[in-house]
This record gives sequence, C-alpha cells and structure tokens, in this order.
Amino acid sequence: MTKATFHISGSSKPLRGSIDVRGAKNDILKGLAAVLLTKGDIAYKNMPQIEDVDRTLELLAALGVRMTGKTARACMLNASHIKGHILRRDIAEQIRASIVLAGPLLARQGKVRFPFPGGCVLGKRPIDLFVRGWQAMGARVRVVDDEYEFSASRLHGADITFYKVSVTGTEAMMLSAVLAHGTTTLRNAALEPEIPHLADFLNSLGAHISGAGTSTIVIEGTGGSVLEGPGEFVTLPDRIEAGSFAALAAARGGKVKITSCNPEHLAVPIEILREMGVRVTVGKDFMLIERTGKIKPIDMIKTREYPGFPTDLQAPFTVLLTRAQGASLVFETIFEGRLAYVDDLNRMGAYITPCDPHRVLVNGPTELRGRRVESPDIRAGLAFVIAAAIAKGPSVLEGIYKIDRGYEKIEARLRRIGVDIERKKS
Ligand code: UD1
Repeated sequence: MTKATFHISGSSKPLRGSIDVRGAKNDILKGLAAVLLTKGDIAYKNMPQIEDVDRTLELLAALGVRMTGKTARACMLNASHIKGHILRRDIAEQIRASIVLAGPLLARQGKVRFPFPGGCVLGKRPIDLFVRGWQAMGARVRVVDDEYEFSASRLHGADITFYKVSVTGTEAMMLSAVLAHGTTTLRNAALEPEIPHLADFLNSLGAHISGAGTSTIVIEGTGGSVLEGPGEFVTLPDRIEAGSFAALAAARGGKVKITSCNPEHLAVPIEILREMGVRVTVGKDFMLIERTGKIKPIDMIKTREYPGFPTDLQAPFTVLLTRAQGASLVFETIFEGRLAYVDDLNRMGAYITPCDPHRVLVNGPTELRGRRVESPDIRAGLAFVIAAAIAKGPSVLEGIYKIDRGYEKIEARLRRIGVDIERKKS
C-alpha cells in the first residue's frame, strides 16, 4: 500500500488542454472475474493501471490463473487449470468487488470461501442480495471465522427478483448462472453499461445471455460446460473519471477536451452541466468542456441507478456547486454515508447545510481555502482533488491509496491541463 500524499496548489487560472480517460475499474474487475468461467486464452485490453486491478490479478494468480504477455495496459489470462476455492483473505478484504469472483468460483469449483468484502466503507454495504441469489440457485451457506463459505455440487437456474437494484449483485448472479443447469431469470436488474458489456463478452465465448441492459436478463446455463476461448475483453472507458474531469473543468473554468471517453454514458451529467451554464460539446469519443461565465445553481441533483445521475459523481458535482450563484440541493439515494465528506468541504470554506442523512443544500458561491484533508473514499477522494485545485492556497491530501485504487496516475494527467499537483512519498 502506497503511503503518499498529494500536494495541490489551488488557483483560479483557467484550465487548458486535453486529458485522456482510462479504462473503467467497474468494468475491468467484472471482466477479470469472468476468466474463471473459461479455459481458453483471454486477452485483456485498455486495462487501467490501478490498485484494484493489481489486487484482482493477485487473487486470480493465487487461484492458479496463468498470466502472460503483461504490458502496461494489457495481459493474457488463462484459467484452464485453477485450484482451490478460497479468495485470499488479505487481498479480498481490501476490495469490495472481490465478491464478483465468488460466483464464478462457486460455479466452477462447487465451493467458494471469502471474507466479508472490503473496499470503501459506505453505509453497511450488505451482501444479502448475493446470498439470496446463490441460495436460490441451490448453494448452501456457512459462516466460518468471519468468512462466508458457499457450496453446491451443481448450481441450478432460478428466477431471481432483486428487491433493490444492485450493479455487482446483477453482475454476480449473471456470472454465477452462465455455467448453471437450466435457465436463470434476473428481474429488476441494473442497467449500467458495464452489464451489457460483460454479457456481450460472455456470449462471445459461448454463453447464452439475453436482455442485458434491460431490467430482465435471461441466462440459459451451459449445464456445467466451461466456456471456451480465445476471447478478448476491451475495457470500457471510465464514465466516472470522464464526468469528474468535466466537473473539474467546469469548476475551475477554461477549455478542456476530455478524450477516449464515451459521452453516451454520461447523458444526464452532461445535461446538468448545460443547465449550469457550462458549454459541453460532444463527439463519439470526446467531450469539450468550456466555461467562462458564472455557474448557475441547479434545483436538485438526485443520484439514481443508470441512466440516472451516478452516485459516483455526486461528490465531484457537489464541489462544483460550491461555485454556483445560489443554492442547490444534492440528494443521495443510493448509499448511506456518502455525504460525510461535506464536513471537510465546509472546513475548506464551503457553505453546505445538511438537511437529513441523504440531502444537503449547497449554498454558493463560496471560495474554498486549501487545507490538509484525508481522502475518505475513492470517489470523494477525487472530489477533494477537485476542491483543492479550485481552492485558494495549498492543500495536502492524505490517504491517496484510496484514489489510486480507481484512478490511474491521476496527478500526471491533471498536470497536463494546468493543475498544480504533485505526489510526495511520506
Ligand atoms: C457499484 C460500483 C460503485 C457504484 C455503485 C452504484 C462496482 C465495483 N462498484 O457498487 O462504484 O457506486 O455500483 O452505482 O461496480 N445493496 C444491498 N444488498 C446487497 C447489495 C447492495 O442492500 O446485497 C445496496 C447497497 O448498500 C446500496 C444499493 O444496494 O445501497 C446499490 O448498491 P450496488 O449497486 O450493489 O453497488 P455496488 O455494486 O457495490
């Protein structure tokens, strides 16, 4: 784990230039989990160089998955000879998404053992949807030493209705059902772009998944036949990274081109930026963000499941709203505890009034002042980078491992558009 800090000198100087978006953490982690359902060579491309990918590759290596041809953003994996059924506790505890490896491992090995998943501590982040899903598919569950153990000599298809929409819940059940005996139907499934992407990838290897990207997904199980390779998984561009860069460009002002992204995945945040008076021009794989005038407040930003406004962009946009000429309401509906960072933002000079645990009123415009802050989680961590970049004076951001978990060498890319940011080893 890196012990380093970001030193950021805030400024009001407009940003200029172009910034590249990397592959999405939330896409590649599921693509990597899918290798456990296969026995051919799978080529992974456009992989972001982030801590969560490294940890997932370590978990796969411990299970006997062979890696060859590793370059900065690509590798070849082969899971023809996997061993064991245990997700290594020391690694799995660090990333919440380690749970997406559990379904494929259960399907392939008939058993899986993993610790209570880690990663960002947001509310309780329960796993009841996963447990119910696997039980519906015939698995038995035991809890031993703070670890879950699921076993099933064979998984069978099931009709599963999610009582709430869950991204990794949907992906985990889809992955679990691919090798099952019989048909699985997932109802009230999540719609995030990563889900049809994962389904297309699995189908290219011989899975039978239909309806991914809609709220009902049907999976015809292969009846235990492991998928063949070769295959290729090209990681989707990170819509959260792209949206965060857009919030930064809008907050600081200037003209910034965000490249290698897919603006179609950001329709709602783009409309919100336009409502705020920010000029957004989109092409197939880029967005141009221009802001010279004042920022208008917005009556409400409400986080929703895709295609609604993403909870992962809530903190960056709240920082942007501190610059707006009036009050804006931010309503977080997905996670508990995802507004806790506003206390630190207020210490930087923001004037944000909590209304209840899910809603805050951002009273703008305020000028932020640089200070020393601890990165609370991956997404709010990046929001503090944005806050520090628009603040008056220097800031030191601690706990940046949480940012490195999901964003590749963010400081090098931000420097290119004019942010004064440096990484220092402590
Ligand atoms: C994924 C993303 C994360 C994003 C979130 C919402 C990955 C690796 N992470 O997280 O970046 O913020 O979607 O867009 O893709 N829940 C339950 N029981 C469960 C599972 C979830 O109650 O078994 C609840 C959660 O606490 C939350 C809600 O469901 O309140 C939605 O969470 P979910 O969509 O599952 O988030 P993740 O998939 O963990």
